[in-house]
Amino acid sequence: MTAPFRLRDRWVLITGASSGFGAAAALAFAREGARLLLGARRENRLAEVAGRARELGAVEALFHRLDVSQTPSVEAFAAWVRSVAGRVDVLVNNAGGALGLEPVAEGRDEDWETMLQTNVLGVLRMTRAILPLMLPHPGGIIINIGSIAGRTAYEGGAAYCAAKAGELQITRALRLELCGTGLRVATVDPGMAETEFSVVRFKGDAARAAKVYEGVQPLTAEDVAEAIVWVAGRPPHVCVDEMVIKCTDQAAFHKVHRRPVSETKRP
Ligand SMILES: NC(=O)c1ccc[n+]([C@@H]2O[C@H](COP(=O)([O-])OP(=O)(O)OC[C@H]3O[C@@H](n4cnc5c(N)ncnc54)[C@H](OP(=O)(O)O)[C@@H]3O)[C@@H](O)[C@H]2O)c1
Repeated sequence: MTAPFRLRDRWVLITGASSGFGAAAALAFAREGARLLLGARRENRLAEVAGRARELGAVEALFHRLDVSQTPSVEAFAAWVRSVAGRVDVLVNNAGGALGLEPVAEGRDEDWETMLQTNVLGVLRMTRAILPLMLPHPGGIIINIGSIAGRTAYEGGAAYCAAKAGELQITRALRLELCGTGLRVATVDPGMAETEFSVVRFKGDAARAAKVYEGVQPLTAEDVAEAIVWVAGRPPHVCVDEMVIKCTDQAAFHKVHRRPVSETKRP
């Protein structure tokens, strides 16, 4: 049997590590004894995640402010990574999210621009900036976080679906471009998961966000983090190109089984 890609002591860079999947992935990699490089805009939250990661076994847990929608911020972050680590073994391009659920006819430029800047251009910018630190180390992996929204369109999701479809095609193009380098490229595409995603989408309307998960047992951030760590840890000759992960109650974007709230069991 071929040995898995050892995660202990590896440098793992996670964008959007201040909440949701990114924070949970940081803690999951910490349990494997990885060295963490965490980025997001909310540094106070990054500090909390880094502290918990150290308690769980991270060999290093370093963080730096990062706004993936701004090229100078990405370049400053990459320069910091070069100075503190000098290499990256696992790059998790996770930062992103949705804003609004209006039909195109009522869409807002600011929302569209933010979604495309973070979910699409953010992945391109980060990858361009970090690749030079990965190419000398075959076996490493870039894991982009997509969504089932990139595979199936839904009403009110035009810009977000377009953005995640963009992420999927970036992943596929990179997989071709990096063939022969020994680097792996994957996309992990979750369905409905309860994080801060819906609160952000509905701009702080927590009651509206809670409705999304009503009567359903959605994925947790930890479920997705476990998938990310599993994909990273496959042997260096194994690339899980594309993983779709949905909760059992969600068979397709529009096909969600909802029970009376009293019957919904949460783990
Ligand atoms: N939850 C779901 O149902 C679901 C399903 C499929 C895919 N996804 C995708 O999964 C990824 C993580 O989302 P999540 O569910 O974990 O949501 P979340 O809890 O809202 O986390 C989003 C993360 O992205 C960061 N972020 C947003 N804009 C950023 C920017 N410009 N620069 C740097 N970091 C930025 C946020 O940090 P700061 O605000 O501190 O910068 C935060 O850490 C996103 O790409 C999302 O589209 C989510």
